[in-house]
Amino acid sequence: MNYIANENRYDSMIYNRCGRSGIKLPAISLGLWHNFGSVDVYNNARDILLTAFDNGITHFDLANNYGPDPGTAEETFGKILKQQLRPYRDEMIISSKAGYYMWPGPYGDRGSKKYLVSSLNQSLKRMGLEYVDIFYHHRPDPETPLEETMAALDLIVRQGKALYVGLSNYNAEQTKKAVAILNELGTPCLIHQPRYNIFDRWVEDGLLDVLEENGIGCITFSPLAQGLLTSRYLKTIPADSRMAKPHGFLKRNAFTEAKKKAITRLNAIAEKRGQTLAEMSLAWLLKDKRITSVLIGASSVKQLEDNLKTLNNLEFSDEELKLIDELSAPVLKQ
Ligand SMILES: NC(=O)c1ccc[n+]([C@@H]2O[C@H](COP(=O)([O-])OP(=O)(O)OC[C@H]3O[C@@H](n4cnc5c(N)ncnc54)[C@H](OP(=O)(O)O)[C@@H]3O)[C@@H](O)[C@H]2O)c1
Repeated sequence: MNYIANENRYDSMIYNRCGRSGIKLPAISLGLWHNFGSVDVYNNARDILLTAFDNGITHFDLANNYGPDPGTAEETFGKILKQQLRPYRDEMIISSKAGYYMWPGPYGDRGSKKYLVSSLNQSLKRMGLEYVDIFYHHRPDPETPLEETMAALDLIVRQGKALYVGLSNYNAEQTKKAVAILNELGTPCLIHQPRYNIFDRWVEDGLLDVLEENGIGCITFSPLAQGLLTSRYLKTIPADSRMAKPHGFLKRNAFTEAKKKAITRLNAIAEKRGQTLAEMSLAWLLKDKRITSVLIGASSVKQLEDNLKTLNNLEFSDEELKLIDELSAPVLKQ
């Protein structure tokens, strides 16, 4: 398939500065955790990725273990890059991560220098890249000295295998400590990647303040609560949904009565705003200027196109915000 990128691709996307760095990220970024593995339909994955790029999404987020099978999302991405996107490499911010189980034995998991360096070498090979733009430690590892993990991130940048480094799933205290070590090493933390959505607000309890104080960007993962904060589950659990797929990370027991009630009511607010629930849920995150980008997933081009419409209405009245808080309160209490 011949591909020439849409020449108007930069016309409607919003680009936000990532903390106090020189990098700007699109307000909406695309993650390849689901829908890009060897179990998924390649042409669909390719069309989602190219539609994203055609609409100004310049940032694509991966990790060593995305698939399934683990590693295959990076392979799919590498194939699309080679066949369609290679001429545009310098217009893209590509990230990967290591921190979860990837291969057997003591060196294929967690936070050692051995694991991080080997894993990034493997990721680069799978994607056919010389370097990633951002490399993350995927989760804190209480068994490895933080100094070693941060030294590994610093080393990777000095080796030219990543341009910037990031932290994911570190709480406020862990982030403060890691950031101080990285600053001392001379490789500042560019960005933090936490889970954040209307149903999960842990980052409001300290982490966002730490990021703001240190000039670090924030890209929020699962902004749609893996699909719950969309119209996907308003009536049934569709057969092709993440919740119904055996390899999907969204489990049926996450769909509590409180969530069922809340999404019906939140959907009514979205309708009044002239948005879908997905659009409103993304806009709700982007109203906070500390959020650099929302990191979405999509299983179809249609979903992606819906999510892009978010940018048409990012304003909320105080009344709407209060109502969203009231309706989601029973879920937040769980
Ligand atoms: N750092 C970490 O630890 C971590 C953890 C998780 C994720 N992430 C990153 O964050 C990215 C996004 O995570 P996520 O996939 O959980 O994000 P999400 O945006 O909360 O959920 C994506 C899912 O929501 C549904 N969806 C999306 N747009 C929709 C729309 N307009 N209408 C109806 N349904 C819609 C689709 O579900 P269906 O598949 O059912 O259609 C889609 O697969 C990942 O790809 C990954 O890059 C990072």
